[in-house]
Amino acid sequence: MIPQSFIQDLLNRVDIVDVVGRYVQLKKGGANFMGLCPFHNEKSPSFTVSPTKQFYHCFGCGAHGTAIGFLIEFSGLGFVEAVKDLAQNVGMTVPEEDRLLPAQRAEVQAKSLALSDVMTRACDFYRQQLRGAPAAIAYLKGRGLTGEIAARFGLGFAPPGWDNLRTVFSDYDSPALVEAGLVIDREEDGGPRKRYDRFRERIMFPIRNTKGQVIAFGGRVLDGGEPKYLNSPETPLFQKGSELYGLFEARQAIRAAGYVLVTEGYMDVVALAQLGFPQAVATLGTACTPTHVQKLLRQTDQVVFSFDGDAAGRRAARRALEACLPHATDNRTLKFLFLPAEHDPDSYVREHGAAAFEQQVRDAMPLSQFLLNEALGDNDLDSSEGRARAQFDAKPLLQAMPPSALRLQLVRSLAQKTGTAPGEIEALFELAQPVAKARKVAPKTKRTPPMGLERQMMRLLVAQPLLSSELDEEAIGAVAQLAPDNAEMLRTLIGCCKALGERANFAALAEQLRQTHSEFDALVAEIAGETESDAAAARLELLGAVRQAKMQVMKAEMDSLAAQGLSGDEAKHRYRALMQQLEQLRREAAVENMPR
Ligand code: CTP
Ligand code: MN
Repeated sequence: MIPQSFIQDLLNRVDIVDVVGRYVQLKKGGANFMGLCPFHNEKSPSFTVSPTKQFYHCFGCGAHGTAIGFLIEFSGLGFVEAVKDLAQNVGMTVPEEDRLLPAQRAEVQAKSLALSDVMTRACDFYRQQLRGAPAAIAYLKGRGLTGEIAARFGLGFAPPGWDNLRTVFSDYDSPALVEAGLVIDREEDGGPRKRYDRFRERIMFPIRNTKGQVIAFGGRVLDGGEPKYLNSPETPLFQKGSELYGLFEARQAIRAAGYVLVTEGYMDVVALAQLGFPQAVATLGTACTPTHVQKLLRQTDQVVFSFDGDAAGRRAARRALEACLPHATDNRTLKFLFLPAEHDPDSYVREHGAAAFEQQVRDAMPLSQFLLNEALGDNDLDSSEGRARAQFDAKPLLQAMPPSALRLQLVRSLAQKTGTAPGEIEALFELAQPVAKARKVAPKTKRTPPMGLERQMMRLLVAQPLLSSELDEEAIGAVAQLAPDNAEMLRTLIGCCKALGERANFAALAEQLRQTHSEFDALVAEIAGETESDAAAARLELLGAVRQAKMQVMKAEMDSLAAQGLSGDEAKHRYRALMQQLEQLRREAAVENMPR
């Protein structure tokens, strides 16, 4: 869980006008900013963003929320992702998720430290073995690599033999070695367990995480053996779908070049670094995932994917395109480079030289063109069926994109190519409301809708959560007596307000309620649509409501005493006391309601 205090700090730091303004064209109108609602189709703006409330609200469709909520609804990010994205923009670091008990956390830490230590020692061993392996050195030299590059990437060699790691780890039977993926246990039928090294007689490519720690290996055979590459299995340290080979080594070069080059192979990365393109990384024998793309976009906003010119390369490119679409915003450049068939970047640079490759990078296909090519494909645009089919193929691709100027351009191009109007494409693809559909409607509750005083109090508290400090148990008790059905809701709300502490405000509360108490959604929407209340006036109104509640409770008790005939001293005494208190409250009310 990300601590609520961090969410509050974050909402205080970001400006929702900037966040929304990245995707929606906003114009100042009075105290607020206005624009066309991105969540439903409209011609005149009913979407407002309030800088004072740090909240957006659409009078047309009722969409509303904080900067975090906007990112979630608009770009389909998860809560944690949205928080991370915003935090990164304002230079804050999201505290580590802390769901574990301290003892568990210590155990997890100890375990990953142990695994990390095992990997480092194995890596050192493989590197040292390379020095004494002429065949392996000759192989690397034969592929054009110098010792310097081999050292930069920490290349090593796993010698032939079944249990060389015994010389590194005195406890070769330790479970940590299996967990790290360095050895394999074979269970023989009934017989004893047999353990052996996973990597044997292979060139070893250590895979590092962005901190530089070795988390996995790729191993290549020297000759034509199979499989050509053998990778570490997924381990607690290593998930293929989120790691990129060479990213640690390439970070500075990516910054210097202004872009990152994404290839498919270990050797491509190493060879490109050798030949003047140190800004290259590779996916690890898997399709490019959105997590990969996100990781890359943390380093740079220009990504060039390079694919082999064959059918497999084309398929990989398609997967990369799909991974890119959710991240394709107007400030980013995503390109696709298709090398001639039978070439990968390594072989291309060797055959045609660095300058030719550089030209290929410059000429790489922009995402928009690739997407259109994919959609139009072989469809016969001279027939209605072909044009419809092209639209059908384009639909999921455009739907995956955040609304942006680029998406609009693509809509226009597609409309033109398929003899349709852009508005028709948007309607057909349901583009104008990509997320409104997914937006959760507050579940209908059976309880009576809040009315009267308690409703008034809840409205005031949502707008000005700091006012919760004005409510003591007596006040809450009075309201609870008048409206027992809604007492729990009021208590919940007061609890949320108080938990936010001294810096509570509407946006922080709304964010908290959105996450944990959707029954307040309608109320939040209502407040979002109103002009901001004055804190002092709201305080008086709240105190007034509390007083009203207390007075009503007193009156009810007096009525009931009177109905019983006021028999006995105790009843009379109580009646008189209530009358005095009531009178006191009336006087207070009169003073506060005097015009100033
Ligand atoms: N790969 C893999 N397992 C295999 C083959 C390939 O994991 N059996 C992954 C590796 O990450 C490899 C990438 O896919 O780097 C590309 O494979 P391929 O094009 O076959 O190899 P190259 O990178 O061209 O390798 P080399 O140049 O060394 O032949
Ligand atoms: Mn190759």
